[in-house]
Amino acid sequence: MKMSLQDVLFSQGFGTRRICSGLIQQGHVTVGVDGAVCVDPAAVWDTEGLVFSVQGQTWQFQRRAYLMLHKPAGFECSHKPGAHPSVYTLLPAPLRQRAGTAAAGVQAVGRLDQDTTGLLLLSDDGKFIHRLTSPRHHVPKVYEVEVRHPVDDGQLQRLLEGVVLDDDPRPVRAAACERTGERGLRLTLTEGKYHQVKRMVAAAGNRVEGLHRSAMGTVTLPSDLAPGHWRWLTRDEVQALAGGALS
Ligand code: URA
Repeated sequence: MKMSLQDVLFSQGFGTRRICSGLIQQGHVTVGVDGAVCVDPAAVWDTEGLVFSVQGQTWQFQRRAYLMLHKPAGFECSHKPGAHPSVYTLLPAPLRQRAGTAAAGVQAVGRLDQDTTGLLLLSDDGKFIHRLTSPRHHVPKVYEVEVRHPVDDGQLQRLLEGVVLDDDPRPVRAAACERTGERGLRLTLTEGKYHQVKRMVAAAGNRVEGLHRSAMGTVTLPSDLAPGHWRWLTRDEVQALAGGALS
């Protein structure tokens, strides 16, 4: 796709068109890996593989944003957090300000509780978010759970056969559940109800003391992505998550 440099910056979240134009005219923008300054906001560039830098911040053009974050404890998955900082503060400003899509900025693909750690996907592609969060698609989410009391067979059986939560008479069951230690469980869920793991474990007769999401759909949290860090999803990861339904 061909785009003016001003629109490139605007689409990637570097401010209003006016601000982007000013940044370019003032010589703050370099284009390409060799880093040549471009001062013409109307100069047209091919966005395929385009790398540029704005005031020293190197950026790779992405038509749509698809990323993973290793969520640390103590952050809320909300743009308007209450008692804790927002996960969005862990992302660079352009990702929060991306324009040109239905909803400005990236959104979390489902939410994790403030005290839950692990894999959080984010995107500005509404269809992708819907594909992964819609109950119709049964996307598996894997949780590593630390519980207060030793896990017994009865608890495992109840989690697999189904427990009734307070907001729905229909039982909810884990798609898979295994013991990972005396007080450890690995639970795979295909729905995304509010506090689902904590409520299911409580209904099965135990209590969650620590919760970490290790996988969602086809993506596993990489061991080299430290808490608080993020990275772009690869094209293959996005395609696999979207079940080939991506434009
Ligand atoms: N279930 C919970 O109880 N909390 C989470 O953060 C995710 C799933």
